[in-house]
Amino acid sequence: MGGDPSIASHPIRWGILGTGRIATKFITGLHAVEDAVIAAVGSRAQATADEIAEVHGIPTRHGSYDALANDPGVDVIYVATPHSAHRDATILCLDAGKPVLCEKPFAINASEAEHMVATARSRDLFLMEAMWTRFRPAVVKLREVLAAGTIGEPRMLTSDLGWQARFNPEGRLFAPALGGGALLDAGVYSVSFASMVLGPPTSVSGLAHLGDTGVDEQAGIVLGDDAGRLAVLGITIQTSGQTVATIMGTEGRIDIDRPWHSPESFTIYRHGEAPEPHRFPLESGNGYQFEAMEVMRCLRAGERESPSMPLDETVAIMRTMDTLRAAWGLRYPADDETLGRMDIASAQLPANA
Ligand SMILES: NC(=O)c1ccc[n+]([C@@H]2O[C@H](COP(=O)([O-])OP(=O)(O)OC[C@H]3O[C@@H](n4cnc5c(N)ncnc54)[C@H](OP(=O)(O)O)[C@@H]3O)[C@@H](O)[C@H]2O)c1
Repeated sequence: MGGDPSIASHPIRWGILGTGRIATKFITGLHAVEDAVIAAVGSRAQATADEIAEVHGIPTRHGSYDALANDPGVDVIYVATPHSAHRDATILCLDAGKPVLCEKPFAINASEAEHMVATARSRDLFLMEAMWTRFRPAVVKLREVLAAGTIGEPRMLTSDLGWQARFNPEGRLFAPALGGGALLDAGVYSVSFASMVLGPPTSVSGLAHLGDTGVDEQAGIVLGDDAGRLAVLGITIQTSGQTVATIMGTEGRIDIDRPWHSPESFTIYRHGEAPEPHRFPLESGNGYQFEAMEVMRCLRAGERESPSMPLDETVAIMRTMDTLRAAWGLRYPADDETLGRMDIASAQLPANA
């Protein structure tokens, strides 16, 4: 597929949709990307758009997402709203002809994700889940090491992820209306990591503690496949753990250092050999620039999705999380619109998972 000549001929102009914590981090990351311009920001309120634009020197400030989506001075939009608003914001931008990088988790459920993917494909536009960890140099190298068979066949992985979040029933980590809970916030990294290393699971199980607002505050998850490969994942917003991961293979193992979901180092232990450390210290930016660079590479090459974070895999990851939530009895208001009644007792993976 050929690149888009109009996008190749000038720096790529980003629009930022939403002005919360991660938007600020992504803007900081973008400052480290050569040939990227932060052209505009869009907020639900003009005052908030003005405020963040002042701080970061962003020239165009829009008091609505719609105005940002229709800004002819923007080439691509980064969606940084709470999960519950990802679908509508992404579709708004795609309908206005803009490629999109959408924060993780991609949506509230697989049905929403499918809708977003179908919209991008029907409009022949680029779309990607902002699973930023996959684009960090350490993870790029990790995938090369796994593909080369350095530790033989990966048979099992373990990881723990999460942090002690301050309880706020209105905040996005605890409010059901905003897609609260450990699974969609931290757990999506773990499910995505297992998918990246072991492929899609055919068996999904887990135990969750649902807190006062009804969302999962901690959970233990086991994902398996027909070959007996296992991912054992601990996730939490109640406590802080070690935040490390290990991939165990038939000829050795890889320990990924804290924080494993955005690592700068890992060590390979092959049977009978000296440990082999790999280090990837950040030389610039804050680590968010790598996903932006991949988006820009794809746009310039005319690719409509990234081979490192394919859309079908994103949807399958959402489906795994739907299955877990169904088993836990964890339902969001948005599910009512898209899923109909989830049958908790018969929760199972769809045929193509
Ligand atoms: N990649 C990462 O490392 C990372 C880290 C943290 C979060 N995230 C993801 O990024 C997304 C946003 O997280 P965040 O921590 O930045 O959230 P946040 O601080 O609460 O900000 C979210 C922003 O979204 C907009 N928004 C739209 N609808 C909203 C609603 N109903 N309630 C509240 N805000 C709404 C607001 O911007 P306006 O008022 O300007 O419209 C708000 O500032 C989440 O999906 C999260 O999973 C990713």
